[in-house]
Amino acid sequence: MPDSAADLVPPRPTLPKLRDAAADCRACPLWEQATQTVFGAGRRSSPAMFVGEQPGDREDLEGAPFVGPAGRILDEALQLAGIDRRAAYVTNAVKHFKWEPRGKRRIHAKPSWSELSACRPWLEAELDVVRPRVLVCLGASAAQALLGRDFRVTRQRGEWLESDLAEHVTATIHPSAILRQRDDESRQREMEAFVRDLKLVASVL
Ligand code: URA
Ligand code: SF4
Repeated sequence: MPDSAADLVPPRPTLPKLRDAAADCRACPLWEQATQTVFGAGRRSSPAMFVGEQPGDREDLEGAPFVGPAGRILDEALQLAGIDRRAAYVTNAVKHFKWEPRGKRRIHAKPSWSELSACRPWLEAELDVVRPRVLVCLGASAAQALLGRDFRVTRQRGEWLESDLAEHVTATIHPSAILRQRDDESRQREMEAFVRDLKLVASVL
């Protein structure tokens, strides 16, 4: 088993070629317990790219990113920030669902650094093909995969970051963090802060 997907990235990649190649990826152990590779979705020339952590239960079954509960939060926040969903290419730092059984349910498990690293060539290839003007990391896993292991979203969210990855690069929380809040008041507060961060993105689109 290769320890990185780099050898699988086709020469002169296009999004369909990448999606086909990633469908057979076994560069880390995560493919084994997942249903399928969930590749990014969106137009090739999208001005903004949003990177989450990994597909969830629904995404694993449907084969598309952000189609479950976290995706609904993201859609709502994009709308409130005035960002057209069609301007967004949406993908994940890791392309297979990592989970642990809890009764009959499959509970999200955090991808390890080695899994994030193994999967990064797919993300880099997506960046090369889409060339978004704005890159948005949603949560710690995406931010650490793209900006370095020491990156702390809590400290540096909602500001423009020094990076060669795109003209404008920023990080904010993961929409799942809003779902995990205990009461309506904290959910609302987190949602407002998330929308505020996305308005920064809207300001350069
Ligand atoms: N969470 C993510 O990070 N990505 C998805 O696609 C769905 C949930
Ligand atoms: Fe390949 Fe990424 Fe899936 Fe690991 S998570 S098998 S690196 S596509």
